[in-house]
Amino acid sequence: MCGIVGYIGKANAPKVLINGLRRLEYRGYDSAGLAVLDDDQILVAKSAGKVSVLNDRARTQWPQELFNRVTTGIAHTRWATHGPPTEVNAHPHLDKSGDIALVHNGIIENYRSLRARLEGKGHHFFSETDTEVLAHLIGECDKGDLFQAVCDALHQVEGAFGIAVLSAQEPDRIITARRGSPIVIGVGDGESIIASDACAILAHTQRVIYLDDNDIAIVTADSVDIRDLNNVPVTREIAELGMDAAATEKGGYDHFMLKEIHEQPEALANAIRGRLDHDVGSSVLAGMGTSPRELAELTRVVMIGCGTSLHAGLVGEYAFEDLADIHAEVQQAAEFRYRNPIIGNCDLVVAISQSGETADTLAAVREANQKGAFVMSLCNVVGSTIARETGRGVYLHAGPEISVASTKAFTCQVAVLLMMALKLGRGRRYSREDGIKLAREIGSIPDLVSKVILQNDLIAKIAADYTKNEHAFFIGRGPMYPVALEGALKLKEISYIHAEGYHAAELKHGPIALLEKGTPVIALACDVPGKDKTLGNVEECRARGARILGIVTEGDHETAECMDDFITIPRCHPLVATIPAVVALQLFSYHVARLRGCEIDQPRNLAKSVTVE
Ligand code: AGP
Repeated sequence: MCGIVGYIGKANAPKVLINGLRRLEYRGYDSAGLAVLDDDQILVAKSAGKVSVLNDRARTQWPQELFNRVTTGIAHTRWATHGPPTEVNAHPHLDKSGDIALVHNGIIENYRSLRARLEGKGHHFFSETDTEVLAHLIGECDKGDLFQAVCDALHQVEGAFGIAVLSAQEPDRIITARRGSPIVIGVGDGESIIASDACAILAHTQRVIYLDDNDIAIVTADSVDIRDLNNVPVTREIAELGMDAAATEKGGYDHFMLKEIHEQPEALANAIRGRLDHDVGSSVLAGMGTSPRELAELTRVVMIGCGTSLHAGLVGEYAFEDLADIHAEVQQAAEFRYRNPIIGNCDLVVAISQSGETADTLAAVREANQKGAFVMSLCNVVGSTIARETGRGVYLHAGPEISVASTKAFTCQVAVLLMMALKLGRGRRYSREDGIKLAREIGSIPDLVSKVILQNDLIAKIAADYTKNEHAFFIGRGPMYPVALEGALKLKEISYIHAEGYHAAELKHGPIALLEKGTPVIALACDVPGKDKTLGNVEECRARGARILGIVTEGDHETAECMDDFITIPRCHPLVATIPAVVALQLFSYHVARLRGCEIDQPRNLAKSVTVE
């Protein structure tokens, strides 16, 4: 999950490359580097740390007039997979001659055997990375045609790659290729820009080409020539991004995460817009790609995802079973393909992924396709690999989610899953009357979330009393159990507090041993089925000295009085309540992390899109 950028065209290439890296920094930010072509030589600047450190290093290392003069370069911001995040291990990496530079996102799985073979031929390596081996392999294959050298090298590679390659011998082009890691090419006016993600291209053009696996392209300032690895021409359409560059800015908020939390009413409105049929009490999700008859024949829904997306699927389990009387389950994407899943043509497999690039989820999609299931995706990034490989699905329309901690994507995923469950349910036993009522409630979700966001200052005040703890527990029942898991993930990933989510009944089966005086227990005690049992669990925790923060339904004063602190959410359908409830936890986690002085948007060790296994 690194970010790569390539640029060829007009002057000022170093500035374009560094600005592009800034847009991709959420993908990985432990070291960075860039290589530019200056007359007939490749100049490289690299640094450990963030892109800002690289910018300072390059401006110190190179004269300003070089910044203004050079027109071609490649750049990289890294999330370390092989070797620590040091300057030596930062990309770009050079071949033995120093005339070829490479940036790479992915993992070369057979790099050790390749490295041994090259060392036997006199190659010497400076870094611990798999990428440097690939750079040397390309150099070893170079017989005067960079494109062919890259093809020959990639034929020897096992694993995933998204690469951009420069050669001092062929200064008019950049070679780029992908297998498993995304590459998008921006087609500008007299300039071309290559990137891992369209966010880095927005400032230059809305016209983009998405490479597919095993595509390789010769990119010049005025052309993009795409072929497969056997040098057979390939046609890829030019798509219009339709994205606003401002959407990738903070817009006056201190952090992208806070901006994206506050964007949720709008994001949810976009996710829901045009997808509810209030007359028949159902949803309209053309992207599901199946007729009512086909939907009626489905016997199971299997959702696959990782992290926050997996938690959204866990809410979906309750929704599909409650609304559609259909068996539903969630499988962790990394486990799915290795367990030889029992999947067939009566299963609807839903791949849930904000980025649409998560390697484990993509691999699970490919396994489900092998087994003949109805496979669809729930993605936020248009044109992402998972969206394109499933061939059918529903986009979230949540807008770019930059902060590593997922917020608006989660709530939009849950909203779309509720609409999917409603659609399936109305094709089964869910009545028109109930459907009309639920459709109305789903349509009100943006307003419900706005009411929670209005409590931002109160939540910030409450959070101030929870910044010193090193452990915290989140508990919930029913569809609030996945909300507890998601709340714990938010707190741990941005505040570094060791937070765990449990089913409320589970605490007494062991974890309650960890409770000490003042240990925070965040209880999802909304007025939904199971609340009274949860309150019983709250008392078990309080009896052991825990400090209780309750998420309670507005007007439920009796429950609020059971809490040391509480945040209220509007009264609504139990499944719908998961969304305002999680927004309260998002704001709570944000303010705890902010008050602890944490990084928030780019937490240590994390990256936004996990494109490696
Ligand atoms: C959640 O806050 C994390 N950023 C992470 O768990 C994320 O949800 C997971 O990596 C899945 O990403 P995806 O939705 O892009 O597939």
